[in-house]
Amino acid sequence: MSKIKDALQKAKREGMISDPFAKTESKGFAVEGESQTRVVDYTEEAVRKHKILTPYFEDHNLSERFKLLRTKLISETQSKDERSLLITSTLDQEGKTFTAVNLAITFAREVDQTVLLVDVNLHNPSILKFFGIEEDVGLVDYLMHNRPLSELLVRPGIEKLVILPSGKPVKNSAELLRSLKMKELVKEMKNRYADRYVFFDAPSMSNSVDAMVLSEYVDKTLFVVESGRVQPQQLSESLNLLNTDKILGSILNKKN
Ligand SMILES: Nc1ncnc2c1ncn2[C@@H]1O[C@H](COP(=O)(O)OP(=O)(O)OP(=O)(O)O)[C@@H](O)[C@H]1O
Ligand SMILES: [Mg+2]
Repeated sequence: MSKIKDALQKAKREGMISDPFAKTESKGFAVEGESQTRVVDYTEEAVRKHKILTPYFEDHNLSERFKLLRTKLISETQSKDERSLLITSTLDQEGKTFTAVNLAITFAREVDQTVLLVDVNLHNPSILKFFGIEEDVGLVDYLMHNRPLSELLVRPGIEKLVILPSGKPVKNSAELLRSLKMKELVKEMKNRYADRYVFFDAPSMSNSVDAMVLSEYVDKTLFVVESGRVQPQQLSESLNLLNTDKILGSILNKKN
């Protein structure tokens, strides 16, 4: 075993194996495999439509809300090194992807923070749609076909933000997410860099066990709660499905 490890390390040193998470120093921050990661710029139309905080969609109140959230999250997690955060909700369509994307951008705007945003909604992936990017490979291709991450990661034209898309929708999401390979990947994504937050955009608790499975792998889980929609009873039922230690808090999302 150690011989294999030594050989791998030697090959890496000699540049025979490329490291998908390789750090590039050119811009003074760490981005995974920057030389290989595809740069596919977001579209103006998509970010406007989905209210994504960019120069094409500026909303002072929304931006301030996300900055406040960033401050709170950093103060809750940084000293404990809890930088892998899952975002879920009780019901579908409460605003998880909206929250995950805007939160990731707000974190990436922090001087010394890099961000990886992972689409773990394998049935109904939508992160790339929010950016207007059309790509159909992602995490499932890594999990099912061993496709190198360097071929799957996308940089949407926002500094210090890298996305791992989900890929084509699959039916067997729970088996894929429960795999040891996924567990190891979650650990690796966070531990590779001390300045990186990893956000996972998960499905809701109501239609699959995926969020439950993933919450065991990440440091903490955040609950998006759409204002005026979820009954307290429903919310407490879904919170009860998670390990209490894993729950960081809830984010009230107002769609208007
Ligand atoms: N705060 C908000 N302001 C305006 N529009 C919002 C807000 N939150 C969500 N939306 C819109 O509501 C719709 C549902 O949001 P989103 O896709 O983020 O929900 P979701 O919880 O990720 O859904 P799913 O369960 O299908 O993954 C989207 O069209 C999104 O643009
Ligand atoms: Mg979503």
